[in-house]
Amino acid sequence: MERLDGKRVIVTGGTSGMGEGVTRAFPKLGAKVVFWGRNETAGAKIQAESGATFIKMDISDEDSVKAAMAKSVEILGGVDVLVNAAGIGPHCPAEDITSESFRQVFAINVNGTFYCNEAVFPHMKEHGGTILNFSSASAFINSPGQAHYGASKGAVNVWSRTIAHEWKKYNIRVNMIAPCIKTPMYMQMRQMMTPEQLAAHDADMANLCIGGQMGDMEKDFLPLMAFMASDGAHFITGQTISVDGGIMMVR
Ligand SMILES: NC(=O)c1ccc[n+]([C@@H]2O[C@H](COP(=O)([O-])OP(=O)(O)OC[C@H]3O[C@@H](n4cnc5c(N)ncnc54)[C@H](O)[C@@H]3O)[C@@H](O)[C@H]2O)c1
Repeated sequence: MERLDGKRVIVTGGTSGMGEGVTRAFPKLGAKVVFWGRNETAGAKIQAESGATFIKMDISDEDSVKAAMAKSVEILGGVDVLVNAAGIGPHCPAEDITSESFRQVFAINVNGTFYCNEAVFPHMKEHGGTILNFSSASAFINSPGQAHYGASKGAVNVWSRTIAHEWKKYNIRVNMIAPCIKTPMYMQMRQMMTPEQLAAHDADMANLCIGGQMGDMEKDFLPLMAFMASDGAHFITGQTISVDGGIMMVR
């Protein structure tokens, strides 16, 4: 994996799934990491095991994001990389989605991305930096049961591409990661599926991607994240990078 010596990194959603994976991996590559999350118990455990610093916060609350950013910049002495992995991925047929659930998905996935990106901007404006927001195949291909989720990730894409363009002049790169990786969110989504949906999903996966199933954190996901956070990716911006074994070949 690429070395990240001296990189100052903030990870949102760092107490579970891909955010946790990055939080645990990047310090071993030489980065200094602060990770954000809601779960204090998981945060304390990951902090003790990884050497990264935990900040409790709620990404859907602008004041909480601003406070977490100020504290992170103080701890790190600045920031070079924002890995914005916090998100929720509920599963529900479109006709049963409530306005409350729709609002919550947007509050976390879209507003949260907006708050974090705006909060990190002043700290990257002078010396450049890298923002990695999380998209999804659901924003590009039809994903039954994920109309609200897919819509939120579509919003993340348009927002990210536009700021990638506007912030090029500051040497701030903004890219989107569209993963298919086995995490707690994926396992929860499986639990929300009916037995018929689950059987259809597994049959699809068998044909759709390399290895016939969701990717592995260590082998398939973390090497990409290390590269995207490194200077080797300095000429890549405004892109959706799929790490999904070939599920999504259009965008
Ligand atoms: N797992 C996949 O294959 C997959 C596919 C497509 C997109 N994604 C996206 O990747 C990102 C990471 O997903 P994951 O699979 O690791 O999920 P996960 O559920 O394991 O982790 C998501 C994290 O976000 C945190 N979070 C949620 N709401 C929050 C809030 N209000 N404030 C602070 N933190 C909050 C959770 O506590 C959790 O730590 C998400 O944005 C998800 O939509 C995942």
